[in-house]
Amino acid sequence: MKAQIKFSKDGVISKIDDRIYSSFIEHLGRAVYGGIYEPGHETADDMGFRHDVMDLIKELKVPMIRYPGGNFVSGYNWEDGTGDRSKRPRKMELAWNSIETNEVGIDEFQEWAKRASSDIMMAVNLGTRGADDARNVVEYCNSKTDTYYANMRRENGFDEPFGIKLWCLGNEMDGDWQIGTKRAGEYARLACETAKLMKMVDPSIELVACGSSGPQMETFGEWEETVLREAYDHVDYLSLHSYYGNPENNSQEYMGSAVIMDKFIKDVVAICDKVKEEKKSDKKIMLSFDEWNVWFHSNEQDKKQEPWQVAPPLLEDMYNLEDAIVVGDLMIALLKNSDRVKVACLAQLVNVIAPIMTVTGGGVWKQTIFYPFKYTSLNGRGTAIKADITCDTFTEGKAVDVPTVDAVAVISDDESEISVFAVNRKLGEDAEAELSLDGFEGFELVEHISMEGDDLKAGNSITEPDKVVPVEKSIGGSVILTGGSWNYLKFKKQA
Ligand code: AHR
Repeated sequence: MKAQIKFSKDGVISKIDDRIYSSFIEHLGRAVYGGIYEPGHETADDMGFRHDVMDLIKELKVPMIRYPGGNFVSGYNWEDGTGDRSKRPRKMELAWNSIETNEVGIDEFQEWAKRASSDIMMAVNLGTRGADDARNVVEYCNSKTDTYYANMRRENGFDEPFGIKLWCLGNEMDGDWQIGTKRAGEYARLACETAKLMKMVDPSIELVACGSSGPQMETFGEWEETVLREAYDHVDYLSLHSYYGNPENNSQEYMGSAVIMDKFIKDVVAICDKVKEEKKSDKKIMLSFDEWNVWFHSNEQDKKQEPWQVAPPLLEDMYNLEDAIVVGDLMIALLKNSDRVKVACLAQLVNVIAPIMTVTGGGVWKQTIFYPFKYTSLNGRGTAIKADITCDTFTEGKAVDVPTVDAVAVISDDESEISVFAVNRKLGEDAEAELSLDGFEGFELVEHISMEGDDLKAGNSITEPDKVVPVEKSIGGSVILTGGSWNYLKFKKQA
């Protein structure tokens, strides 16, 4: 088949906020213990942080990491992870039926984040706790005052505030799995009052209110409206969460996942703007897609885990080639909506539904999804340009009228490079792409990388770490987007 992909100078979507390449580390499974932290490991530093893991995180250039949850945060007392480590409580962790030793908390994580060259996006507990604890943790982390919580931080060895700028008002508070689930009205009031107090302590912070846990929630829409009507003036972002998967093994249908993500984003934007109109406000609420990924492979094996273990292997999805293509495509959807999506977190980063896997006491390896994330994060910085595309569509199961080809371009800030991210979702049918860059003079294609292969189910492992890696395509002649592929095309301005 043929596809026309046109970019032009008047197709500017937005300057991309680098925080769209953020990720997430929760106290869940082996993300922290046996993941980023493993004292005694041969690569561990003076604080017990694994440097083989940190090196791979740096390779992904992750600007910000959400912490400490997720579901975990809704039962978490942040003070448990501060101060003298020998006195920290060992607790029943109710979100994941595990034992939390509290060896790592914000005291250690903020140091780890500095070493990993990332900022922190911190979530507060609005499940079992409320506004009082939320304002206290902001004081502990950010305040320079001579007051109780700021002094507690100093006593714990940190004179300088941690300077955490972005905070989540709870996590997935609409979900009945959440510790301390709320009805929309309850959460709306709590989020509003908590936001006010947190900003009184530190007016420079930005806040994310919880949207629905996904578009499948019965209260989706109504929840967002209720929360925004109450808290509009006190929050800056609304969260979106969504996970995709292929549980019924229909790969063609699965290839349509990004279209579903795109619709979800547009529906939430419409709700935000409806409330803006109602309030006659000048302020635009931006979106924080703070949990997105593929998640389904590990569901069955997780049910077999014994409860009350320390760092059990939970949510350890083993990703394959088709997952990598979908993840690359989901990133295209985020970039296409970068005028409103200012923050997005690949959930998660290490061991738990993650691009980076470790063997406790052993090595580290890259999952298939590592690669589209890396190429987009490294090359997708600058200004997003929309594509005008002419191509076929397909319908398969719940994926209806899906364009076979999708793409977005990013022009670098110095205008020397244009990166095109493109997908061919039609399995087994190559697309001959006619690519044009109208108004962008003197650019030449210098690199074409793709994630493609004969076996969509092939994945990597500690023993075969390079089974699925990006393929270098030859340049010259027409651009072929292989049937079932994610592609990165680099154009350089010629001197
Ligand atoms: O990322 C895994 C879990 O997914 C998070 O803890 C929760 O917020 C979501 O349901």
